[in-house]
Amino acid sequence: MAIQKVKQNVFSIGMKDWDRRLFDELIPLPDGTSYNAYLVEGSDKTALIDTVDPETVNVLYDNLTNHGVSKIDYIIANHAEQDHSGGIPAILSKYPESKVVTNEKCKNMLIDLLKIPDDKFIVIKDEESLSLGDKTLQFFLTPWVHWPETMVTYLKEEHILFSCDFLGSHYVSSELFVKDETKVYTSAKRYYAEIMMPFRKNIVRYLEKLEDLEIDMVAPSHGQIFDNPKLIFDAYKDWTSDNVKNKIVIPYVSMHGSTKKMVEYLTDALIKRDIMVKPFNLTVTDIGELAIELVDAATIVIGSPTVLAGPHPSVAYAAFLANMLRPKVKFATVIGSYGWGGKMVENVVGMLGNLKVEILSTVIVKGFPEKSDFLALDDLADEILNKHKQLNL
Ligand code: FEO
Repeated sequence: MAIQKVKQNVFSIGMKDWDRRLFDELIPLPDGTSYNAYLVEGSDKTALIDTVDPETVNVLYDNLTNHGVSKIDYIIANHAEQDHSGGIPAILSKYPESKVVTNEKCKNMLIDLLKIPDDKFIVIKDEESLSLGDKTLQFFLTPWVHWPETMVTYLKEEHILFSCDFLGSHYVSSELFVKDETKVYTSAKRYYAEIMMPFRKNIVRYLEKLEDLEIDMVAPSHGQIFDNPKLIFDAYKDWTSDNVKNKIVIPYVSMHGSTKKMVEYLTDALIKRDIMVKPFNLTVTDIGELAIELVDAATIVIGSPTVLAGPHPSVAYAAFLANMLRPKVKFATVIGSYGWGGKMVENVVGMLGNLKVEILSTVIVKGFPEKSDFLALDDLADEILNKHKQLNL
């Protein structure tokens, strides 16, 4: 796989995974992904910043050989998750004089996860620097984006921030640097939604901290390098802010058409009120698309039939996921149908405990909706409109 030059004596040397379509056995990857490792050759020392997924370590291994790397002094581990750290044992075997440079928490996790011996580590603290001769690496601890040990590495002389997962995207391209900003923006937003959104408040603090650095490039460990870092920093500032948009997402399932009819009616009612609305039929939805829209929606309306007294299992999954991802949504409610009884609404609302939402009026229909039910949906649309107006949306 091609080695690509980032700057003088700085190379992208990792793996482009064009075919991967699922991450963590959970996250759809419509555009594949990459595991970016970076080689930084100083006048005295050589550092490898992160490695690759263990399944693909032979690619990194061959790249290092083909590049003529005879010695690696430091393997920088920004993150213990195996898609970046999993190649460390193989690289340590090839370059036994190498030391793994990371923070205390990451060291302990790497010992647990990969059984790397204790004496292989150099432990650094927040803002500590490491000289490679004419180049200097500085480390900034950024815990909980998205694991407790995460950190980023700054190459001072070249003004490159190696951000690992942070600011990254599951997107693979032959081009090293971002060219199609619209495409990458959407991929990065999907990635933020799925991985980073639960840690929004921490990210705000780290963005402020990193603002003190002069950064010409952001080189994440997934996706392309931002040589216009403003694009990704501005996007993150927007996504992590408390601001929401005049937008509603409606994840739903319908078994026999009742809930679907209600969702269609409510969607039209919201359009008539000039509110952006995005219904997601969960039987055909890429869950990442739903996550993207949750990043800045003001309201979530969950639509479900009643199945064995509770929500449809696909609705339960979507509600559980939304609760895990902790979007900054302000309002929520439930619409749907039942045949003879149940506790569908209570079950769904009970699954949203992480969300700091006001629960709006629910509309639950016995059988197929009739005129009074559509009027109730009109009332709900008005209620949403008024709530959004109160937020000046
Ligand atoms: Fe790309 Fe958290 O690993």
